[in-house]
Amino acid sequence: MVEFSLPKNSKPTKGQHHAAPAGAKNTKRFDVYRYDPDSGANPRIDSYDVDMDTCGPMVLDALLKIKDEMDQTLALRRSCREGICGSCSMNIDGGNTLACLKPIEDCKGAVKVYPLPHMPVVKDLVPDLTHVYAQYASIEPWMKADTPPPASGERLQSPEERAKLDGLWECILCFCCTTSCPSYWWNGDRYLGPAILLQAARWINDSRDEATGERLDQLEDPFKLYRCHTIMNCTNTCPKGLNPAKAIADIKIKMVERAG
Ligand code: SF4
Ligand code: SF4
Ligand code: FES
Repeated sequence: MVEFSLPKNSKPTKGQHHAAPAGAKNTKRFDVYRYDPDSGANPRIDSYDVDMDTCGPMVLDALLKIKDEMDQTLALRRSCREGICGSCSMNIDGGNTLACLKPIEDCKGAVKVYPLPHMPVVKDLVPDLTHVYAQYASIEPWMKADTPPPASGERLQSPEERAKLDGLWECILCFCCTTSCPSYWWNGDRYLGPAILLQAARWINDSRDEATGERLDQLEDPFKLYRCHTIMNCTNTCPKGLNPAKAIADIKIKMVERAG
């Protein structure tokens, strides 16, 4: 039977409060999800009052300040701090986004920070991406061509051919879209989800790739592709402004065109 509430051992409890340093006049509360599977304890929500006069403007700045100055046990991923690496994706203020691109001033009241939803949690804000990366590997995300490259060594594209990759190559695999997709929540074991399908489209649309038919064959499956019901959560949440729902619709059109 489908369970609509969290199992008892998954319900977050009230955690510790970390006060701002003495003398801080301008503080902001951050309520942060904490979970350590090794402890056997339920997840908890710890709160931190951060001194905003000595903090950068983005949610990632606050989380790093918390880790550096208030509580070193907090676990999170980040690398580039400028929206390029996709590591710091998490659920902030109710939406999936990149912590390094989310201005603190856009969050009214306490800033609620959770890991990406519907993923197993390794610790705190770090989701386990093993399954979704296996799905990424399954679409064979590299160029396949039997024809040898020209003597120049470069496989050239016209500007029009290159333009077909716009809106696809920019994806940073943050998985904000995939983890906001209700179809993926329910069928993530077999449905590839918007991030991986957008990546599939990136190779299907590459004029230099010679495996288009094989790639479409791989996706011709009631679950891998056709669990997308155009709910659009993915496109609405993408922090890079991409449109995975359109990429998926374009793959479906290609399926119909080749059948006809
Ligand atoms: S459009 Fe498709 S992939 Fe995007 S959220 Fe909806 S069902 Fe998921
Ligand atoms: S399409 Fe957007 S939200 Fe989805 S993985 Fe790529 S960058 Fe992230
Ligand atoms: S730290 Fe790289 S995208 Fe946020």
